[in-house]
Amino acid sequence: MEGVETVRRESGPWTPLVQRLMHGLRATGLVPEPLGVGDDGREVVAYVAGDCPHYPLPPWVWTDAALRQVGSALRKVHDASATLGLPSAGWRSPAVPPAEVVCHGDVSPDNTVWRGGRLVAFIDWDRAVPAPRGYDLGYAAYRFVSLTPPGHPDGLAAPVAKQRRRLDLLCAGYGGADPADVLRWAVYRVEALAASDSPHAALYAGDAVWLRSL
Ligand SMILES: Nc1ncnc2c1ncn2[C@@H]1O[C@H](COP(=O)(O)OP(=O)(O)OP(=O)(O)O)[C@@H](O)[C@H]1O
Ligand SMILES: [Mg+2]
Repeated sequence: MEGVETVRRESGPWTPLVQRLMHGLRATGLVPEPLGVGDDGREVVAYVAGDCPHYPLPPWVWTDAALRQVGSALRKVHDASATLGLPSAGWRSPAVPPAEVVCHGDVSPDNTVWRGGRLVAFIDWDRAVPAPRGYDLGYAAYRFVSLTPPGHPDGLAAPVAKQRRRLDLLCAGYGGADPADVLRWAVYRVEALAASDSPHAALYAGDAVWLRSL
């Protein structure tokens, strides 16, 4: 599209469905405009101007204000996703029952864009999958609270009491998620990563032990 800066990304059989989801979520104002698949077979989405935090994360990502916004923004996209009537199959990974909403699937700081302290977009939607709300909230809590052991290379070095308080804050931002349920989902997500072929599997395994101790 003329005049729109674009990003080209790897695509897969799930890309048309992911773009249907992104299109359906556009009214939230929190999702880049999907622009189809290019001649080169890659996915095209509109570029979202702003700051996309990369690891090691800048300190502002760890503010309570940012965390609360992650909760409230995620609630908006989840609620909108539930109205779209999208199919349960055709995603990159199988639906996770009971599929209450379509989850983003990878809610981490490097998949968000911010402007002037405001969360303006979740990007990188190709892990989207129908799942319970906790599937996203658990992973968001792991990454953004963060629910990580002392000395973790990608975490906020915070005592357990602060991790619990920040978990509550994320849940409050979401508008009333159950912190214990979110913690169970964090364990589920991180244990799945520990069992995957990720090069960071050993790190995830240690994090899962920490999560189970919380
Ligand atoms: N729509 C977008 N608007 C602005 N920046 C983007 C957008 N899409 C990607 N980016 C930037 O490019 C970086 C890489 O994006 P992308 O998600 O495509 O790759 P990736 O994160 O390496 O892939 P994956 O997470 O699937 O391994 C993002 O972290 C972000 O900085
Ligand atoms: Mg990404």
